[in-house]
Amino acid sequence: MNLILTNAKLVSMVDGTSGYDPSNPCSIVIENGVITHLLPECATTLDTYVSFPHLDCKGAIVTPGFIDPHTHLVFAGNRAEEFEARLQGESYESIAQRGGGINSTVQATRTASVESLITLALPRLDSLIKSGCTSVEIKSGYGLTLEDEAKMLVAAKSLEQHRRIRITTTLLAAHAVPVEFRNDADGYIEYVVSTIIPYVAEHKLADAVDVFCESIGFNLQQTERVFKAAVDHGLAIKGHTEQLSNLGGTQLAAQYQALSADHIEYLDEAGVLAIAQSGTVATLLPGAFYFLRETQLPPIQALRLHKVPMALGSDLNPGTSPFADLRLTMNMACTLFRLTPEEALRGVTCHAAQAIGQQDTLGKVAVGYTADLAIWDIAHPSELSYQLGMGELKHRVVNGVIEDVH
Ligand code: NIG
Ligand code: FE
Repeated sequence: MNLILTNAKLVSMVDGTSGYDPSNPCSIVIENGVITHLLPECATTLDTYVSFPHLDCKGAIVTPGFIDPHTHLVFAGNRAEEFEARLQGESYESIAQRGGGINSTVQATRTASVESLITLALPRLDSLIKSGCTSVEIKSGYGLTLEDEAKMLVAAKSLEQHRRIRITTTLLAAHAVPVEFRNDADGYIEYVVSTIIPYVAEHKLADAVDVFCESIGFNLQQTERVFKAAVDHGLAIKGHTEQLSNLGGTQLAAQYQALSADHIEYLDEAGVLAIAQSGTVATLLPGAFYFLRETQLPPIQALRLHKVPMALGSDLNPGTSPFADLRLTMNMACTLFRLTPEEALRGVTCHAAQAIGQQDTLGKVAVGYTADLAIWDIAHPSELSYQLGMGELKHRVVNGVIEDVH
């Protein structure tokens, strides 16, 4: 799609500090959904592209469209009762051990049809869109059978038919041991690697494979079996690692060149070094940290020191992060993790793009990049992390197509 935006103050997120400083007003030329020219503002610009649809940004800030690189946005039911139990003192782990937690959402999701999963997902997606998203990663993991995992992935991908949005999908069959395999986690992993992963790869239902590597999830050997199967089937790797304890899942993910290691509150220096060397993104999920009232902070200073790119995700899910708002995520990252607003913005743009393996086309406003943009009613990009319910998104552009946001 062709489009010209004039009088735009770019926050390009290109490397280096200048990518965060709003540019002087300029024009963005988009041809066939790709940014082809960034031009200093001058009267002749519009004459050259007279046939293109035109938006006068009136000096508004234009950022890359936000990317949420970690969500569990497709699910049925909710876990408000467990929230109440946790407020009474029960832990997330103990709820999981008594058959609640992930497995309670599995029960609700298994009985839902693809259509009802889509209907339930759309308002959540709309909320993420309002917070600036043009790309969202969505994981399965509440089906835990071939049929139900495939159903979740199909529902997730088909959201692209309902909204202007880019969806990437991740198979998270290794999210919890389902009730039918109680006391046989190895048996379930065998089913995941021999049946679910080959089917999902063959039918191109997912871009990546994820594992919940944790005492209430899967151990290192089980995690490695899943990573190996992902590699064998040409799928990228992600990990829920070091969320509640330090098992070494992040280092294992680094060994397998994972795109990202996510959560990582309990990651130690050796783990940070491992992902620094493998080029794995650290995806921070402050919503889950906040909602679980976690006190162990992720090793932000070590990540900075070793120049590990930090992405931010909403982790939108019914159990640990029921928040469909990436602006809230940015605010939490600054207040709880002490990220700077610049780091937070990189976390939902260029670094989030890297976390989904699309850093060459998404996450920056630059010539040759896909024209996914967000146009904001703010004076400075720090306001995106600073305030909520103010400094609204005015327009969004997905693949060169403009949409007003109400
Ligand atoms: O990212 N940690 C595991 N998975 C999700 C929680 C899923 C759930 O509790 O439903 C997370 O926190
Ligand atoms: Fe998660």
